[in-house]
Amino acid sequence: MAREATIPLGRLPKDYRTNMGPAMARCYGDYGPIFQIPGLADHYLFVIGPEANRMVLHTHREAFSTAIGWGEILGLGEHLGHGLLSMDGLTHADHRRMMNPAFAVGHLSEYLRVMQRLVTEAVADWAARGTVDVYEEARQLTFAIAAETLAGLDPGAEIEQFAALYAQLLDLRTVVPVQGRDAAWRRRRDLLWDRLRGLLLPKIEARRARPASDALGLLVAARDRDGKALSDEQLIGHMNTLLVAGHETSTSLIAWFLYLLSQHPDYLARIRGEQEAILGDREGATAEDLQRMKLLGYALSETERLYPPIPNGARGVLTEVPFRGHVLPAGAKLFYSIVGSHYLKDVWTEPERFDPDRFAPPREEDVKNPYALVGFGGGPRTCIGINFAKLEIKALATHLFRRYDLTPLPGQDIRQQYDVSAAPVHGIKLRLTARA
Ligand code: HEM
Repeated sequence: MAREATIPLGRLPKDYRTNMGPAMARCYGDYGPIFQIPGLADHYLFVIGPEANRMVLHTHREAFSTAIGWGEILGLGEHLGHGLLSMDGLTHADHRRMMNPAFAVGHLSEYLRVMQRLVTEAVADWAARGTVDVYEEARQLTFAIAAETLAGLDPGAEIEQFAALYAQLLDLRTVVPVQGRDAAWRRRRDLLWDRLRGLLLPKIEARRARPASDALGLLVAARDRDGKALSDEQLIGHMNTLLVAGHETSTSLIAWFLYLLSQHPDYLARIRGEQEAILGDREGATAEDLQRMKLLGYALSETERLYPPIPNGARGVLTEVPFRGHVLPAGAKLFYSIVGSHYLKDVWTEPERFDPDRFAPPREEDVKNPYALVGFGGGPRTCIGINFAKLEIKALATHLFRRYDLTPLPGQDIRQQYDVSAAPVHGIKLRLTARA
């Protein structure tokens, strides 16, 4: 404990939840790249910046437990069952290996067709309505994409039933903080789990009887290092994590991405120029086409930087780690600040400005500062869905930008507030007008 005292004591600014990036960058200026926050029961450590991220995600990653961070401190294990985020060490490596084929770049192009079909249907509906809350609409779209491609659910009533159950499961997280969970909370969770299980078990059985190429099918066919198949409970834990992690985050990124581009028509015009150059009159962009759309990619990275859906990554410190003249004590609870790292003045030019060209050569501010852009984490535990998420967002953008102009509805109170993930508090309403 004597050593822990050397870590500066910090205080989270008043605008921490509503203006987290700039607020955390101010903390970095005031206290440095590591500081502790006295909590109700425990001290929490925050670390910020590329050097700290590299330590947590790469060089000293074995000293940091994601299972404690996400599984226990943020309560994911008890909430969703056991998925990759509540595993460490060999178990994690083994399960990640089993899951990788479903997210390999080559396999993703199989999902692209489903993504494009669902995008086309959704956007036709948005256009028919003229003005839509893109945050709400993106939620339905990303869930439908994740449910069909990952769990092989049937479009329509089945996916709607699932979406409603997951929405209730997510509400359970916000209604009761981790420390307040009691027997009544667990009863409500068990009820939802039973109903989800009732829907997922037949899907699992069907894949045991006949192989399928969705993520669930690949997981059912996978074998662990002892040659054993995953149990029903393990499969359901993974599916819950994938379906929740796979749509909440993308929903938020899509909403802010569309909003930022509606605010920056000059950059949007450049993206359209790039689309025309690559696609001409061709419909149905391929994964390679989307990969070649560099300007689109830079705008997406800039949205990830300014509005990272997950603001901080949680870890439990397993063994002492030296860092910048301090020692991180074993047993501490730690957050590496994703959003704080994205707003540091010594890394990013004018960090609060929307400036996608910062990612283009010769500037390449992210390449020059490894582990500065960590919206999807980094190192061996980088988000497994990073390419999936980017593909679905690019598929949506390509379809939407070619056909419609986007204008924010005037007079909106557009505000972001972080809980575990980012959200526009009152949604984001955009008007779609068909382009000539
Ligand atoms: C915009 C979309 C997304 C963002 C911003 C995002 C962000 C992240 C971040 C920051 C982490 C690392 C957390 C840490 O280091 O503490 C992570 C991990 C993870 N994400 Fe994503 N994610 C997104 C989409 C997805 C999708 C589409 C899926 C699945 C379909 C997914 C599944 C996962 C899983 C399973 C992990 C744990 C990986 C491991 O520990 O090995 N995510 N994500």
